[in-house]
Amino acid sequence: MSTPTATTADQAPTAGTSEHKVPATAIFATEKCYLRPFEVSDAEALAEAANDPELIKYLRAGFPSPYTLADAHSRIEYCHTHPILAFGVFTLDGQYAGTVSLEPPTGDRIYAGTRELGYFGARKFWGRGIMSQAVREFTRWAFATHPELLRIEATVFKPNEASKRVLRKAGFVEEGTRRLAIVKNGEQIDEDIFGLIRTDVTS
Ligand SMILES: CC(C)(COP(=O)(O)OP(=O)(O)OC[C@H]1O[C@@H](n2cnc3c(N)ncnc32)[C@H](O)[C@@H]1OP(=O)(O)O)[C@@H](O)C(=O)NCCC(=O)NCCS
Repeated sequence: MSTPTATTADQAPTAGTSEHKVPATAIFATEKCYLRPFEVSDAEALAEAANDPELIKYLRAGFPSPYTLADAHSRIEYCHTHPILAFGVFTLDGQYAGTVSLEPPTGDRIYAGTRELGYFGARKFWGRGIMSQAVREFTRWAFATHPELLRIEATVFKPNEASKRVLRKAGFVEEGTRRLAIVKNGEQIDEDIFGLIRTDVTS
């Protein structure tokens, strides 16, 4: 799956605030945010948001911590050079507010039609409904623009209620629990699986 860089006419972003225009690279805009591919100049804001112990609490151990400027540059470089869909989420006045991504699940090629959803929001914007809107519209956009995509899945640490709320509001179905699948910082935690298939959003 390649990363489109331009917006099609029927998905044209709406205008931003009077001072800030939604850029032409945005894949869509909502009343709270727009999503666009990362630019190298986003590295500082990404590092500032991601270097947050509260944010990584429910993320996999592979997520860098501390999260340095070099980590941010390396992630942006990865997004530009790999077949993933990864976008920055920006407020309508142009501030970096989070990240959404769809990446191939690790494992067998039998999961060809599946992509794994990842996301986080910058803590200063939590609770404003931005990530709920970003995730919901991103998944719709992904199905609409990638006909080969059959299923989007997300795995969530069981105690991560905010994340489960975001997924439920996007229409994800709770498909089950992997009991004690996660061991992080010596703690054993259940993992909940959420799935969204094309017909969940089109029928
Ligand atoms: C999950 C996350 C993206 C939500 O971001 P956000 O900007 O706060 O999201 P929103 O404002 O759109 O909505 C959050 C929802 O969770 C609810 N919520 C927030 N904290 C909560 C908590 N501790 N318990 C229960 N619900 C909670 C909010 O009330 C809101 O639901 P509502 O709209 O029905 O009231 C953010 O908390 C985050 O980045 N967490 C760390 C990274 C992470 O967990 N990523 C997901 C990995 S699966």
